[in-house]
Amino acid sequence: MAKPVYVLNGPNLNLLGSREPEIYGSESLDDVRARTLEKAGQLGLEIEFRQSNREGELVDWIQEAGGKASALIVNAGAYTHTSVAILDALLAADIPCIEVHLSNIFQREDFRQHSFLSQASLGVICGFGAQGYEFAVEAVAGRLSDK
Ligand code: DQA
Repeated sequence: MAKPVYVLNGPNLNLLGSREPEIYGSESLDDVRARTLEKAGQLGLEIEFRQSNREGELVDWIQEAGGKASALIVNAGAYTHTSVAILDALLAADIPCIEVHLSNIFQREDFRQHSFLSQASLGVICGFGAQGYEFAVEAVAGRLSDK
């Protein structure tokens, strides 16, 4: 059986829908999950969708993905801008990673305009809200079918 794509979400993304909706939209994380699974189903991909507020748990999941997943889609939330540990885990996992952000981080505060994860990512999708997760699934499907 084909390996799943791990979709990992970082801190505060469990609050989607109620958290700063003018920035992050009105869809909940469950809505985002449903969209992601729907798109993946159309493309024949299986998804393992998770969220954690803890950096170490995200690192553990990325390590797990290195053995069990075909690719990663990661929205690390604020850890994007701070976490060398998540960067190192992605480099070690050595599977394709797409970085996602709901908001356009390049239109926001200076501290959000640097991502540690980008160094380990095939590409970054940001500014398209929840739809960005669907774009990421399409990007993963394209990459996996190239192989
Ligand atoms: C975010 C952007 C980050 O700067 C922020 O800390 C988040 C969400 C996004 O999806 O737009 O928590 O990753």
